[in-house]
Amino acid sequence: MEKKNLDWANIGFNYRKTDMRYVSNYKNGSWDEGTLTTDDTVVISECAGVLQYSQSCFEGLKAYTTEDGHIVTFRPDLNAERMEDSAKRLEMPVFPKERFLDAVTKVVAANEAYVPPFGSGATLYIRPYMFASSPVIGVKPAEEYQFRILTTPVGPYFKGGAKPLTICVSDFDRAAPHGTGHIKAGLNYAMSLHAIMEAHRNGFDENMYLDAATRTKVEETGGANFLFVTKDNKVVTPKSNSILPSITRRSLMYVAKEYLGLEVEEREVYFDEVKDFAECGLCGTAAVISPVGKIVNHGEEIQFSSGMETMGPVTKKLYDTLTGIQMGRLEAPKGWIHVIK
Ligand code: PLP
Ligand code: COI
Repeated sequence: MEKKNLDWANIGFNYRKTDMRYVSNYKNGSWDEGTLTTDDTVVISECAGVLQYSQSCFEGLKAYTTEDGHIVTFRPDLNAERMEDSAKRLEMPVFPKERFLDAVTKVVAANEAYVPPFGSGATLYIRPYMFASSPVIGVKPAEEYQFRILTTPVGPYFKGGAKPLTICVSDFDRAAPHGTGHIKAGLNYAMSLHAIMEAHRNGFDENMYLDAATRTKVEETGGANFLFVTKDNKVVTPKSNSILPSITRRSLMYVAKEYLGLEVEEREVYFDEVKDFAECGLCGTAAVISPVGKIVNHGEEIQFSSGMETMGPVTKKLYDTLTGIQMGRLEAPKGWIHVIK
């Protein structure tokens, strides 16, 4: 299979159309058999539920080329399960897990030429998504839906790759205590766009959101969970019902404990204690682990001792171990790696 002639090391995190995508439609209470197609356009009613009331959800995972030349995905079963949770919360039909996994395999295999080579620093981003396609005008769930998976080759999410980020504490809230912060609903991202643009206009890379009820506890950013490392090398991550249960974060906590022998804690993290941590990072499929060098709260700066030049030592070990598992350099826990070919 001949790879596309792309400048893999410099593609950035952008949409680039690939050859094939997967589509399945839900009508009269069931999903059709689904198909791969070259058609990258979507034609729906002007009054479709997704256009009127934002009834949509999505997932994000990646395909990797391993050191020995296989193409694999990382824990896609957890993406299928999380999409099921998102669909149920949004009164959308569930796309069955086995079909989700089969569709991911098919669409990646069909776009093999776009899976970046091992060592290029790039991966194939896989975006499953679902939206209400039939008309609604009263506020209610639609009757028809479309499930699609697109793929696009991507580089690092943050410009500058592994360079530590500067983030600011946002004055906006991301999620309400009993809202939709724990699912991957498109609406969570729509309402974060103004906040991220404000952050960028003020010279920051990302936002740190606090809990909406008390504004004293760390939640997450617009697209990643937080990890902190204490001065005695304990890995700490915020626990909250209103953050997305990141698959990367859950994997990293396991890796920290079982591969690196570190103590781990998932607990409420008060903003007041952030200044006492030695390292901070953002974790997610897109972010992988992106180090944070500085957090600014209305002019007050917290600088981590790991500095603004490189990843902190524990963050680096976590990064190397996780990517080692994903790229086949290290043995993975059972069931984490799905071989596509
Ligand atoms: N938090 C938010 C808001 C996200 O959008 C994402 C990305 O999916 C994550 C966290 C990280 O989750 P995961 O590691 O499953 O990609
Ligand atoms: C992902 O990491 O897959 C996401 O969906 C986050 C998004 C901000 C790109």
